[in-house]
Amino acid sequence: MSYFQGKTIWVTGASSGIGEATTKALASHGCQLIISARRRPELERVKTECENPENIHILPLDLELHNEAELRVDEAWKKCKGIDILINNGGMGQFGNSLDTQNEVERKIFEINYFGNVALSKALLPKMIEAGKGQILSIGSIAANFGQAKLAAYSASKAALKLYYESLNQELKNTPVKIQVVSPGFIQTNVTLNSLNSDGKPLNKNSPAQENGMPADVFAKKLMKVMKGNKFHAYIGRKELLAVPLHTLFPRLFYKLLK
Ligand SMILES: NC(=O)c1ccc[n+]([C@@H]2O[C@H](COP(=O)([O-])OP(=O)(O)OC[C@H]3O[C@@H](n4cnc5c(N)ncnc54)[C@H](OP(=O)(O)O)[C@@H]3O)[C@@H](O)[C@H]2O)c1
Repeated sequence: MSYFQGKTIWVTGASSGIGEATTKALASHGCQLIISARRRPELERVKTECENPENIHILPLDLELHNEAELRVDEAWKKCKGIDILINNGGMGQFGNSLDTQNEVERKIFEINYFGNVALSKALLPKMIEAGKGQILSIGSIAANFGQAKLAAYSASKAALKLYYESLNQELKNTPVKIQVVSPGFIQTNVTLNSLNSDGKPLNKNSPAQENGMPADVFAKKLMKVMKGNKFHAYIGRKELLAVPLHTLFPRLFYKLLK
């Protein structure tokens, strides 16, 4: 029997990219899925493109409105009479020099990538603990491991996210809830295209690294493998993952190569 069979799994950021691919991969495993993002028409499209669309429930939400997290969690919980797994994937990129980037843009990146994500987990955790089971997996980023020009707010938001969940994981050691973080490398999605520029407008430009990254459906299969295991953290990507040890061991060489 599949690890996912009979479970209720909530995927945020399911209207495109990694969330869409993960939803499609999970849909054939006999689970109930709740899919969330801001754009309802895109969620409808994803649902119709999935196997067993009757098992997929649409719950639009805006992660930036984290004071609505409890409401959304209550809605999701009631819809499926419980939630076994939350895949906290929704997120927003940022690209621009720090000195040019408006404070509101930096704040928005944190509101979505950090506070919105954490608010959903905090609203859901008491229910999971009471139910005696649960799993929360958040999507971080390899960018959380080292500073890079033009990515300051994004990298900082993902670094904060990873440390938050690492701390939470320690706090919840004696509960039945599993906490995990997956840090993707370069995955073929629209994350760079959708990134906010210094003025808060979509960048509308892709990067060769993104275009040549791991296909999102391949990523989704690897993500599902991580979910079945008990590791707190895993990287998923290709040769770009070498950047992590390189930055730790040879930081000067790392920044020379990055240039
Ligand atoms: N692709 C990569 O190489 C890569 C690498 C490292 C980490 N990541 C992370 O992976 C996650 C998924 O990104 P992706 O690559 O699949 O990019 P994507 O195609 O741009 O997907 C981002 C998803 O997040 C949702 N989202 C954005 N803002 C939101 C908000 N305010 N409220 C609710 N949902 C929101 C989007 O849906 P709506 O626009 O419909 O709201 C969309 O479904 C993100 O957390 C990203 O930071 C990606």
